[in-house]
Amino acid sequence: MYAAITLFVLMCLTATTHAEHHQPCHAPNMTGFMTVISLKGEIRAFGAFTYESMGKKLRFRSNESHPTNTSLGLDLLMFFEEGVFYEIDSKNQSCEKKSLQSTLEPLDIPDDATFLSTLHSGSPSIEGEGLKINAWTGSMPELKGHYIMSVTMGCLPVSTLYFTESTSFLISNTDVELEIKDPDLLVVPSFCLGLPVEETPEGTVNSFLNEFM
Ligand SMILES: *[C@@H]1O[C@H](CO)[C@@H](O)[C@H](O)[C@H]1NC(C)=O
Ligand SMILES: *[C@@H]1O[C@H](CO)[C@@H](O)[C@H](O)[C@H]1NC(C)=O
Ligand SMILES: *[C@@H]1O[C@H](CO)[C@@H](O)[C@H](O)[C@H]1NC(C)=O
Ligand SMILES: *[C@@H]1O[C@H](CO)[C@@H](O)[C@H](O)[C@H]1NC(C)=O
Repeated sequence: MYAAITLFVLMCLTATTHAEHHQPCHAPNMTGFMTVISLKGEIRAFGAFTYESMGKKLRFRSNESHPTNTSLGLDLLMFFEEGVFYEIDSKNQSCEKKSLQSTLEPLDIPDDATFLSTLHSGSPSIEGEGLKINAWTGSMPELKGHYIMSVTMGCLPVSTLYFTESTSFLISNTDVELEIKDPDLLVVPSFCLGLPVEETPEGTVNSFLNEFM
């Protein structure tokens, strides 16, 4: 009996100590869908994404025919490691190459994020009716704001809230799979090769989030 209680207390202590030493995990290779909603209530974009974790590469193509009036038509190929991205227009085979002033990634927890808590969405005790998530927070100095990001125990991004001076966004990820289905999506299209990086006007910040503002 005492042994059992001691063991239980020890386990609790271990769990607490563990929680205090959380290290941000990193998202794996993924394919899935992303919805970007402004907290004014507009669905800014919905579409498929492909993410490569080693190279920190992201392709996001919004689906304009998704039934919403406010969706943006976007095709973005972002290289967070290199700090550049492409705005692609496949229809007329044109492209713009720009530098990223903020390399904040929508699908990966920044290394300097602070652990908030572990939460159970839904039910923790009914099989298949709950989702255990870790919530992280941090600031975005370039965008004068902060974020709260929640991920599954396996580091799959569930949703992120972004609060900035001018606006707020919710990014929600669904139907995530642990593979890159089409690696070609992470390759710069031939019609974009050799482009110079466009000059960023004074005072402009380019980031994934800014594409939806
Ligand atoms: C992620 O994808 C890249 C590119 O397809 C591949 O080189 C790498 O091995 C993959 N990583 C894992 C952990 O599967
Ligand atoms: C875009 O959305 C429409 C309607 O939901 C769907 O039929 C179509 O397959 C989607 N296209 C892509 C490229 O995801
Ligand atoms: C879509 O947006 C246009 C222009 O803002 C507006 O005139 C129209 O009523 C909207 N349609 C729907 C179904 O909300
Ligand atoms: C391609 O289309 C976009 C928007 O429709 C336009 O801004 C751009 O100038 C076009 N580029 C070329 C090379 O036609």
